[in-house]
Formats: sequence, C-alpha cells, structure tokens
Amino acid sequence: MSSPATGSTPPSRPGGPAPPADPAAFRSAVVKSRLLTRSQLDATLAGLPFAGGRSARAVADHLVAAGHLTEYQADKLLAGQHHGLVVGPYQVLAPLGRGGMATVYLARPHDANPDPGTLVALKVLPPQRASEERELARFRREMDLGRGLEHPQIARTLDSGEAGGVHYIAMEYVPGRTLRQVVAADGPVPVPAAARVFADVAVGLSHLHGRGLIHRDLKPSNVMVLPDGRAKLLDLGLALRVDEDLPDDPAVVGGRGYILGTMDYIAPEQAVDATDVGPRADLYALGCSLYFALTGLPPFPGGSSKQKLRWHRTEDPPPVDQLNPAIPGEFARLVDRLMAKRPADRPNSAGVVRELLRPWCDDPAAPEPEPTPTPAEEPLPLEDAEPATQPAAGPPVVLPLGPVPAAAVGLLAVLIAFVLGVLVGLVGQLF
Ligand SMILES: Nc1ncnc2c1ncn2[C@@H]1O[C@H](COP(=O)(O)OP(=O)(O)O)[C@@H](O)[C@H]1O
Ligand SMILES: [Mg+2]
Repeated sequence: MSSPATGSTPPSRPGGPAPPADPAAFRSAVVKSRLLTRSQLDATLAGLPFAGGRSARAVADHLVAAGHLTEYQADKLLAGQHHGLVVGPYQVLAPLGRGGMATVYLARPHDANPDPGTLVALKVLPPQRASEERELARFRREMDLGRGLEHPQIARTLDSGEAGGVHYIAMEYVPGRTLRQVVAADGPVPVPAAARVFADVAVGLSHLHGRGLIHRDLKPSNVMVLPDGRAKLLDLGLALRVDEDLPDDPAVVGGRGYILGTMDYIAPEQAVDATDVGPRADLYALGCSLYFALTGLPPFPGGSSKQKLRWHRTEDPPPVDQLNPAIPGEFARLVDRLMAKRPADRPNSAGVVRELLRPWCDDPAAPEPEPTPTPAEEPLPLEDAEPATQPAAGPPVVLPLGPVPAAAVGLLAVLIAFVLGVLVGLVGQLF
C-alpha cells in the first residue's frame, strides 16, 4: 500500500491564512474548504456536548471520528490550509505519492452521497508549475494520451480537467506499492516475483507500443505492484507518440539538444535524441528497472548525471548474478540483453519480453494475454543505438544539451550539472 506522505501539501495557493487558533476559525476553514456546508457542519456538531467550548483539535477529532473528515483533511484545516482540498468534482483525502511533475492524491467524487467504494488517484499539477508554459504543455499531453488507453496493466485515466487554475487527472486508484517502495522496504525481489511483475510491465508496454506510444520514463517508481504481486504501469508524463507533430519547443517533449528521461533508466539512444526512439528504448528501461528489482541498485549507481549518461552508452554494469548469486545465469543474460547498448541487440518487442519472462514467473499463467491484438509486436521505428549513462533515483528531467549531441556531451558537462542541480532543486521532494 502506498503510505500516504503525511508531509505533503495540498494543491493550495501559497501564503494561506494563519492557523485557526480557535474552534470558530477552524469551523470557518472547514466551510471555506467546501468539504462541508455550514449547515452540514452545524448539524454534525449540534449533538456534540459543549461544542462551543472545545478546542479546534477536539472539534476536528470529532469530525474525523464521525467520518466527515480524513486525518489528512483535518490536519490541513487545523494548519489553516483550506485551499486545494476540493479540486473540481473531487475531494482530496490523502496524498499517495509524488513524482517529478506532480503530486498524486487519494480522492473521491465530491458528491452529496458518494459511493464509498469510488476512490480515484488524483494527479494534480500545482498552480505554480502550471504557470510554466512547458510544464502545463506536458501535463496537457499526459491528459490527452491517457484518455484513449484502456488496459489492465496500465493505470486507467478516468477524467481530466482544470478547476480554479488547478489542472488534474483522475485515474484508477491502484492499491499497492511502487516497485521502488517494495525494494526499499523488503530488499531485492526474488526472480520468480520479479519475472511476474515485469511480465505484466511488458504486457502494458506492448499495449502502449501497439498504439504508437513510447513511455520513455519506465522506472521503479512508475510501476505499481499490487498486493497480489501483479503490476500496472503509471505515468504517461513523458510518453511520445510515434510520428506525432512535435511542439516547436524541444523542452516539452525533448529533441536534439535536450535530454529527457530519468538518468538511471534512460536508454542510450534516448539520451541522444529523446524524440528519435522506438519501443526498444522502453525495453532498455525495463532491463534497468529489472536490474534494480533484483539487486536493489540501478545498473550505474553513483556518479553525476553526465557520468551516468556516458556509462549507459559505453559501460556494461556488473551482471546481476555477480551482485546476487541467487540469480540463475540464464536469467542474468536476459537482463543483459534487455540492457544491450544497441536497440537491435535487445529483444524484438515487449511481447517477446513477456514470453521470455513467462517461464520464470512464480505463476506462469498470471500474465494476461493482450486484450486486443494489435500490430504491437511490430517494432516501430528502430533506433540505431548510441550509448548513454545512468544514475540513482532522480526525477525525469529535460536537460538542455546545446546543439551538438554525442561528441559535445563532455563539453556541456558543466551546463548539464548546473541545469540538473536547478531541476533537482525544483523537484527536490520528488522521491
Ligand atoms: N493510479 C495510482 N494509484 C496509486 N498511486 C499512484 C497512482 N498514480 C500515481 N501514484 C503514486 O504517485 C506517485 C507519482 O505519480 P506519477 O504519475 O509517477 O507522477 P510524476 O509524473 O510526477 O512522476 C507514484 O510514484 C505513485 O506512488
Ligand atoms: Mg512518475
């Protein structure tokens, strides 16, 4: 289960009012938040003995106990933050996670009589970020790309919109933990369980690829592991539609001169031109994520972003069976193949990867067949491989690289380091 990040801030505007010092101020914050109307609140508190004399905390506790507020909502209201607890038609219940772009909340429809089972994951672009044209353009792409997708191994997009300057995407709520959380809490994943997770990931990728989409940001924090050990793909924030008309600004989806991706998992060819990639860039990222699941480390831990990029391009990481001798050599070779520098040396498609992983799964029958036959297994444009580097657990980034790709990377190291520093600072809370 994703543990709610209690320190997370709702999508409120900066500079909110001071914390309510008394129950009256707290009640006013409740009404301003729109979680309860004044009459609902009065009716709820009417039966409370000595309600007027109680502390704000006691009133909040009463509302939580009565099921009118969640602990998270109560804490925010007690802290004087009433903005952002109702976003469009949704009520924010608690934070689920935070990535490089947005914060995701557990939420439910803000109806008078919501079905208590109707939970959604609400991805919210904070207003400060929405004021950045590029950030908003990327978020809008994510809204659009998610709408047309329906597959059991991909978190489904239910709705998206904008309310009061807050842009949101409502998704299927996926219970469980990200693969990153699983490894952080339980350590490396045994081969049979890892094979099952990644067989599901491969099925989800196959669906994306069949629809002409490249994920471009596959990594452990974008894979949800369900309580039954199955998996779903998250986060279409960096997805690219093959043959789409690219926006003029290369910082939105990448392009020559910009590196876009997450340094620990980025395919060599993506590091050269993130818009000139095919499905096998995702298979490389799948290999790096599998590497992480099996060993607890990305293939190239440590080092700067520039070094990681270089290592992805030129270095072979220690084989997984060297780091974890419990891993059979044959499985370790499969991981190596996924992380081949040249796309042509990787398995031909995500569908093939699923078949290669299937015999290793603890429940070989588990991975669902493709619901819709598509030309998915046809490799889309084939990238002619180029090398790249790697990292630990950074956010997705767009790095201005300057006009020259490969050979100029070294000269641009300082620029990259600077930009990365800024970006990491901006999304410092990322993981
Ligand atoms: N549908 C979902 N169900 C449950 N948790 C989710 C869901 N989507 C995202 N999360 C949580 O929120 C985190 C950030 O979401 P993500 O879409 O990856 O945002 P970003 O684009 O900022 O990386 C994820 O790592 C996960 O912990
Ligand atoms: Mg993410």
